[in-house]
Amino acid sequence: MARIWYKGFTRLVVFKLTGEVFLNMKPQVNPYAPGAGRPPPELAGRDAILAEARIAVQRNKLGRAARSFMFVGLRGVGKTVLLNEVRIMAEEEGFITELIEVGTKHTHLSFTIIKILRAALLRMDRSKRVSEQVKRGLRVLKSFIGAAKIKYGDIEFSIDVDEEIGVADSGMLAQDLAEVFVAVGEAAKARKTAIVILIDEIQNLPAEEFEALIMAVHRTNQRDLPIMIVGAGLPSLIKMASDAKSYAERLFEYPKINSLDRKEARRALVKPAIASKIKFENEAIEAIIEHTKGYPYFLQEWGHQVWNVATKSPITIADVRKASNLAIKRLDQNFFLSRYERLSGPQKDYLRAMAELGPGPHKAADIAKAMKKTTRQIGSTRDGLIVNGMIYSPRHGMSAFTVPMFDEFMKRARN
Ligand SMILES: Nc1ncnc2c1ncn2[C@@H]1O[C@H](COP(=O)(O)OP(=O)(O)O)[C@@H](O)[C@H]1O
Ligand SMILES: [Mg+2]
Repeated sequence: MARIWYKGFTRLVVFKLTGEVFLNMKPQVNPYAPGAGRPPPELAGRDAILAEARIAVQRNKLGRAARSFMFVGLRGVGKTVLLNEVRIMAEEEGFITELIEVGTKHTHLSFTIIKILRAALLRMDRSKRVSEQVKRGLRVLKSFIGAAKIKYGDIEFSIDVDEEIGVADSGMLAQDLAEVFVAVGEAAKARKTAIVILIDEIQNLPAEEFEALIMAVHRTNQRDLPIMIVGAGLPSLIKMASDAKSYAERLFEYPKINSLDRKEARRALVKPAIASKIKFENEAIEAIIEHTKGYPYFLQEWGHQVWNVATKSPITIADVRKASNLAIKRLDQNFFLSRYERLSGPQKDYLRAMAELGPGPHKAADIAKAMKKTTRQIGSTRDGLIVNGMIYSPRHGMSAFTVPMFDEFMKRARN
């Protein structure tokens, strides 16, 4: 009798345990979030950067000099995610925020700026008292639209006020944009709010527009106006900014966004699973960190695959082995291949030669040598790769991949 009871009891316990684990581990509840800009289940390793960002945003509103800043890092380290975090933070503070993503085939900055500043001014205009500063902001913006119309053709935005003749209507982007920023900044100040403009993939801005933006920020900074830019982009943007205006180096902070160290990489993996009572064997975590080198995008991909492969807790090294093949396949298809397919034949040859030399950075001269060419002969290929954001130049005459582990992908892609 006791024996039967015992058997029934253990069966119940086993069923209960495996049943529960199985439910907790279903793909439907997979917590990991591989994908551009997808918020991770655990934002690891960014506390210090976010705390600094919050202070800068708050200073801005108080009218204390606060430097605009730009998150700088390779693809997949989590810049877009951070930009969205800053946006949420600024909204919580009651600020007006607008987000722009600069594409490679991007529409003129003027158009985008008009759209977002118009939205910002109309939001301020709606609130309680009529403010002369907000009205003036709208008039100056209208002048800017007039000038942009002459330069670029029709623009569909209309504003129901008269133009502010002689302000922001010279047709010179740098001058006009600065005047618009000042007018809008003054409106925000009068309204006791702040405007935060978030710009993703900022390295795609053409030089003229980048320069105009820098000058506009410079002008509003000098007057301590509550309007700030928070950007994100590839490492090449630092040089682009200082090439455009030498003072850009002092005007902005450039927080470097890197891969996660071991402790934070572990946190990014373990914490989301714990919420579903799922654990990892230590060996399994170590193996994932080894494969991903702590790059956030890769951590999400490995986490995602190993979750789907595993059938019970704890997740084991055997699970990781199975998941790795799937993760690499998915990365090749989504993260790497989409970039590779856009390249010309000579560009692929260049990257292949680079990959053969290892992860890099490499001297451009060594790459040329590996290709049995002179640096000059491959100069335009290198420039093309920099423009389309595949490589950047960390120091003069050097080339480095903007995509982590792209060298390993290039070696796979050849087979
Ligand atoms: N701090 C982090 N911890 C864990 N995962 C992250 C972190 N930051 C980003 N990720 C993940 O990395 C991937 C890439 O993020 P994304 O912001 O698109 O990178 P980037 O804009 O730098 O290319 C996303 O899947 C995201 O969930
Ligand atoms: Mg991004």
